[in-house]
Amino acid sequence: MGKWILALFMSVGLGLCAPISAQSNAPNPQAKPPASQSKSSAMKSKSSGQSKAATADVRPWWQSAVFYEIYPRSFADSNNDGIGDLNGITSKLDYLHQLGVDAIWITPFYPSPQVDFGYDVSDYENIDPIYGNLADFGQLQTAAGQRGIRVVLDLVLNHTSDQHQWFIDARSSRNSKHRDWYIWRDGKGPQQPPNNWESLFGGSAWQFDPKTNQYYYHFFYPQQPDLNWRNPAVKDAMFDVTRFWYDRGVAGFRLDAVDTLFEDPKLHDNPILPGKNAFGDPNMEDQYNRNLPEIHGILKGLRKIADQYDAVLIGETWTTSIEQLKDYYGADKDELELPMDFMFTMVDKLSPTEFRKQIAALNSSGGWPVYLIGNHDIERSYNRYGDGKHNDAIAKAMAGMYLTLRGTPIMYYGEEIGMANDDPKTKAEVKDPKGKLGWPQDKGRDGERTPMQWTDKVNAGFSKTRPWLPVADNYKTHNVAVELKDPNSILAFYQKVLALRRSTPALLLGDYVALNENDVNVMSYLRSYKDKAVLVVINMSSEPQRVSFNLTPQGFSTGQAKTLLTTMNGISGSLRLTEMSLEPFAVYMGEVSR
Ligand code: GLC
Ligand code: CA
Repeated sequence: MGKWILALFMSVGLGLCAPISAQSNAPNPQAKPPASQSKSSAMKSKSSGQSKAATADVRPWWQSAVFYEIYPRSFADSNNDGIGDLNGITSKLDYLHQLGVDAIWITPFYPSPQVDFGYDVSDYENIDPIYGNLADFGQLQTAAGQRGIRVVLDLVLNHTSDQHQWFIDARSSRNSKHRDWYIWRDGKGPQQPPNNWESLFGGSAWQFDPKTNQYYYHFFYPQQPDLNWRNPAVKDAMFDVTRFWYDRGVAGFRLDAVDTLFEDPKLHDNPILPGKNAFGDPNMEDQYNRNLPEIHGILKGLRKIADQYDAVLIGETWTTSIEQLKDYYGADKDELELPMDFMFTMVDKLSPTEFRKQIAALNSSGGWPVYLIGNHDIERSYNRYGDGKHNDAIAKAMAGMYLTLRGTPIMYYGEEIGMANDDPKTKAEVKDPKGKLGWPQDKGRDGERTPMQWTDKVNAGFSKTRPWLPVADNYKTHNVAVELKDPNSILAFYQKVLALRRSTPALLLGDYVALNENDVNVMSYLRSYKDKAVLVVINMSSEPQRVSFNLTPQGFSTGQAKTLLTTMNGISGSLRLTEMSLEPFAVYMGEVSR
C-alpha cells in the first residue's frame, strides 16, 4: 500500500501516554520496513491503502516521519582512513533507531573529485570508493529497512563535476555529443564574460575554456558546470538516475539547489545591489538565473516518477516569500512534498514573536510544513540560538519546539547531542574552498561539518586516525556515550520528545493553534486532535516566567494539564493551567482533554 495507515490510531482508547521514560528500545511502532532492494517490492501501488477503515487517518508516510541528515564524510569511519563511510553509517543504525528517526537523508556519496565534498558528482549511479561500493549500499539499505528506517539520497540536478564523462566530452569540441548538455556562450569580447552573473561561491559565473574558445556557466564552483535543463536529453538522463536508485529501494531524494536549474536564455544582466559580499564581488539580485518558472515543469516530471515508488521529494528551496514556497508544492500539490522553508532557519534568535510569525506564514501556504534548524551549509543551531551560558537548555528548548510543530522535522546529525560549530582558526586550515575565497568574512562550512562525537575518547570515537576535519572542542562533554547515561542530557531529551511524538496522534496529526500570542518570552501552542490536545509551553528567556491559559475558546474547558514531558525536575501529575511556573528555558508538554 502506498500511503500506509498509522495502525495505532485505529485502536480505540489508546489515548495519550503517561510521561515516558528516557529511552525506549522497542521497535518503532509505526515502522514499516521500507521497500527492500528488489524492484518488485520497491514498486508499490498507490491506491491499495485507501480502502482501509474510514475512521483511520490515512497520511503519506513522510508526514509522520522524522528525517535525519547524515553528512557521510563526518558520521562514522569504519575503515579508519579519517573519512566517514557507508559501513560506518550501517554500524550506527541501532543508535538512530533508538533515537527514534524514521528516515535518513545521506548527502552525496557518489563518485566525485570532492571539490565541493560530493556535490560535484562525476557518476550518478555509483558510490565513491572513499565511501564504499554498491554492495555496501545494499547492506545499508537492508539493515536500515530491518529497523524501519528509510533511506533518502541527495540528487544534484543543477550541475555535474567537470570530471563527469558528459562534461569531459562537452568541452572536447564544439560539435561533441554532449556539448549542448551544458551552457556554453561566447564572451562579450576578449576576457569579457557573456554577462555579469556571479557564482554563489565568488567571482564570475562564467569560466573561459581555451580549448573551444567559449565560456561555460557555473552557479557554484568552476568545477561544477551547470547542466542545460532546456535540453531534453539532460532531463531524460537525470530522470533515469532517479529510477536507478528507486529500483534499489531508495525512498526519495533531497533535491539539491533546485532553484538554480534554469537561466534566462537571453542572458540579461542581473541588477546590482549596494555593497559587496564576502568575496569582494558587488551584491547582486539573481533575478535572471534563479527561481525561474521553468523549474516547475521539471519538478512535476520528477514527482510523477516518485509517485510510482511512493517516494518523497524534499527540496532545497531558498525562497524569499511564502508565495514562492507555495509554488514549490505545486498548484495541484503535484511538485515537491517537502520544500524546505529556510525562512524559518533565518530566525537566528530565540524569539517567540518571530517564530509565531514564521509558523503562521508557513501554515498559510496550504502545504505540509517542513521544519529544520540546521544543516551542512548553516552554522549549527547550538551556536545560532545559544547565548553562551545556557546553550544546553536552549538546545532542548529548540528541540521541544521544532519536533512538536505540525509538520515534518529534518534533524541534522549531532544536533541531538549539542554539537557546536568549530570554525577553522586560520585560512591554511580551511577545507571548504568557499572559506578560502571568502576568508576571513566567510570561513566556509567546515565548522558545521566536524566529525560526529560518539565518545569522549580519542577522535571522539569517530575514527582511529586523525579525521579529515578536527573534532569540535566540546566532545568530552557532548557525545553519544556520555549523554546516553545522563537522563538530563540533550540526547535524552531528544529521545523523549521523539518517542512522545511517535506515540501521540495530536503531535503527529493535530492542528496547530498559537496561544498567548502577545507573550514575548514564552512560546505556547496547542496541537489538538479529536478530543485530546498537547499543550506545548517553552520559556525562551533566561528568567523564570509565569503563564496562564484559558483553553475554552479551543474547546477545552479543563483547568488542568496532565504532564507528559518536561525539562523541569520534580514535576509530574497534573498542573493548573492558570498558574504555571517555568524555569529559564524550560519546556513543558501536557495533555488536555475535552
Ligand atoms: C547545495 C548544498 C551545498 C552545495 C551546493 C552546490 O546548496 O547544500 O552544500 O555546496 O548545493 O551543490
Ligand atoms: Ca543552472
